[in-house]
Amino acid sequence: MRLSTLPLVPLLLLAPSTTTAYTPLSNDALRALPSPGLTDFDPRPDAGSGGLLAPLLIPRVPGTAGQAAAGEHLASFFRRELPEWELLWQNSTATTPATGDRQIPFRNLIVRREPPWTRRRPGTAGFLTLVAHYDSKREPEGFLGATDSAAPCAVLMFVAREIEKGLARLWASAAAAGTGGKVEADDVGVQILFLDGEEAFVSWTDTDSLYGAR
Ligand SMILES: *[C@@H]1O[C@H](CO)[C@@H](O)[C@H](O)[C@H]1NC(C)=O
Repeated sequence: MRLSTLPLVPLLLLAPSTTTAYTPLSNDALRALPSPGLTDFDPRPDAGSGGLLAPLLIPRVPGTAGQAAAGEHLASFFRRELPEWELLWQNSTATTPATGDRQIPFRNLIVRREPPWTRRRPGTAGFLTLVAHYDSKREPEGFLGATDSAAPCAVLMFVAREIEKGLARLWASAAAAGTGGKVEADDVGVQILFLDGEEAFVSWTDTDSLYGAR
């Protein structure tokens, strides 16, 4: 199973919570959709600081410096721009058919944002979960994995930044009105899994694939 269903994400986030018939989207509604900034998705390495995509367009093979740099790009974005999001690393090691007895490290990054009231009672929130993998294939050498899956990771960073605005507003008004956490349906946050070691090291089999991402 490949984790490449991301184009659905923006649509899910816009889905109305009650059942309504489809109506044509107005120009105002379309104009209100969040647009990326100039450098967010600019693929050029010299695109300027703050780009979401460009720093991921490097070989990101597990256990290499490129992989560590890509993971750090993801984590530092959340630390810098979305400090309310909780960061969790899930690290493991495994051998692969290409690397002999050496234990290769795999590092999944999980980022979470939950309502203030579930934060005070850990383990009670449900999470809408969005997933992409951030490692790249070992061969051919220099392979960038731009669509599989640097771009989806950058899209998820963008999504996090945009929905943060709505979540902060929603939860602040619920907290102010004293209504937050009164019904279970409010106990829902968002988490994004940036998975490592999705790709095969030699060729895709049940054992040579999904190292971190299983
Ligand atoms: C897991 O990996 C991350 C990223 O390299 C690192 O910052 C963290 O210290 C590691 N955690 C453990 C428990 O080794």
